[in-house]
Amino acid sequence: MKQKLEEIRAAAVAELSSADADLEALRIRFLGKKGELTAVLRGMGQLTAEERPVIGQLANEVREYIENAIAEKAETQKTAALAKKLEEERLDVTMPGKAPEIGKRHPLAQVQKDMEDIFIGMGFSIVEGPEVEYDYYNFQALNIPENHPARDTQDTFYITENILLRSQTSPVQVRTMEKQRPPIRIISPGRVYRSDAVDASHSPLFHQLEGLVVDKGITMGDLKGTLETFAKTMFGEQTQIRFRPHHFPFTEPSAEVDVSCFVCGGKGCKLCKGEGWIEILGAGMVHPNVLRGCNIDPDEYSGFAFGMGVERITMIKYGIDDMRYLYENDVRFLNQF
Ligand code: PHE
Repeated sequence: MKQKLEEIRAAAVAELSSADADLEALRIRFLGKKGELTAVLRGMGQLTAEERPVIGQLANEVREYIENAIAEKAETQKTAALAKKLEEERLDVTMPGKAPEIGKRHPLAQVQKDMEDIFIGMGFSIVEGPEVEYDYYNFQALNIPENHPARDTQDTFYITENILLRSQTSPVQVRTMEKQRPPIRIISPGRVYRSDAVDASHSPLFHQLEGLVVDKGITMGDLKGTLETFAKTMFGEQTQIRFRPHHFPFTEPSAEVDVSCFVCGGKGCKLCKGEGWIEILGAGMVHPNVLRGCNIDPDEYSGFAFGMGVERITMIKYGIDDMRYLYENDVRFLNQF
């Protein structure tokens, strides 16, 4: 029996030597009600009166020994688990922090805002118009009757026969003049749509910024001064503007307006394609028919209007040679602005 007890002790020591010993299972196996030690104690009845206290004492010693060993092991395991956790969750406070990525405006939105700021500085207010528009505002009221070639159906997304996606921001001129009496001094930025295939300089969706001024005694000189101020603020003080005769049904006279190339100063370079000038917008004096249609007397009032492409201004300003970059949302491109 003595030997049996020593064997139990040795077995317990062996089991407990493993780092991840299952302590509860060992407690049951050695000390439990049906455990090995209990089994030995049950056999005590067969012992002689002299042997009994000796074996009894040894059995208690072994029990205590195993209990202590298990308790000690539990402590070791707890310490090891904590050390492991601390190691795994270690925090290096000297590591550089992660800078939060703050987004920024898309170049188109930024340039549109720059454009708005320039005109707001000249006393213009911003008005908005619908992108889904009536034929009346997009064409008819702009002096473009039913069979006018400027209405080329190829260029326009029609929704019904008289509802379409606006092909220009000019309908906002009419909407404004219907609601507001002169003096009028507004700009209207927004999306416009044309049924064009995508290439380096075309997109079925693009942005324009419309301008309209109506008051007594407004002349072409006012238009020139306004656009010159815009061009110099946008592209630099040395920028010159040039008016070329053109035709728009809703302005008379009409002009296309160029800025002197701000890269070469007019000598001719890659940006201006050797021309020295870059076209930036269409403009003119509001046609009397358009004024009349909005109940504004052309004998009393006159006005000018202009419309420019936001993509175009952005591409010129930043020397972007393909419009598609502006829509691909590749952060390697966008991060350059
Ligand atoms: N709406 C014209 C276009 O899209 C531009 C323009 C606006 C011309 C206002 C004259 C006056 O081409």
